[in-house]
Amino acid sequence: MTRRAVCPGSFDPVTNGHLDIIERAAGLFDEVVVATGTNVSKSRMFAPEERLEILRQAVAPFPNVSVAGFEGLIVDFCREIGAVAIVKGLRGATDYEYELPMAQMNAHLTGVETVFLPGAVANAFVSSSLIKEVAAFGGDISAFVPDFVAERIRARFD
Ligand code: PNS
Repeated sequence: MTRRAVCPGSFDPVTNGHLDIIERAAGLFDEVVVATGTNVSKSRMFAPEERLEILRQAVAPFPNVSVAGFEGLIVDFCREIGAVAIVKGLRGATDYEYELPMAQMNAHLTGVETVFLPGAVANAFVSSSLIKEVAAFGGDISAFVPDFVAERIRARFD
């Protein structure tokens, strides 16, 4: 049986921190589906179609990783595609506090498991939100996202 996992997130846009988690999830499961959803409490830089396009390009080197958008509950998406687990990265205690109730709610709703992977130390301070803020004021974001993503972010502020 194919063991399929989902890596959900806003990915606005995908960062090197996300890609590290996605690559490691791809080593643990037969297939990984990176799923872009909408966090209703966050503002957007890239439209859903753009986030998908950026993700597709970023995960192209990983043969068992694909990309999809989802609307509604992540647990319903997991059920639709037969995923056995949700994989999330944790940069630290703040992420854990945010992610734990979501993992517990999702387990309550359908029994889907959440697997937490510790984020690499080098990515501990890397977030899409901070990268966008640094870029908005002309700072150097080249260490935190693939080059083509940095270009797309910079283009927003030209
Ligand atoms: O990038 P984020 O903010 O960590 O992404 C969060 C996201 C989009 C994965 C999360 O908000 C989500 O799963 N939303 C879909 C709606 C849902 O299932 N909400 C209940 C979670 S318990």
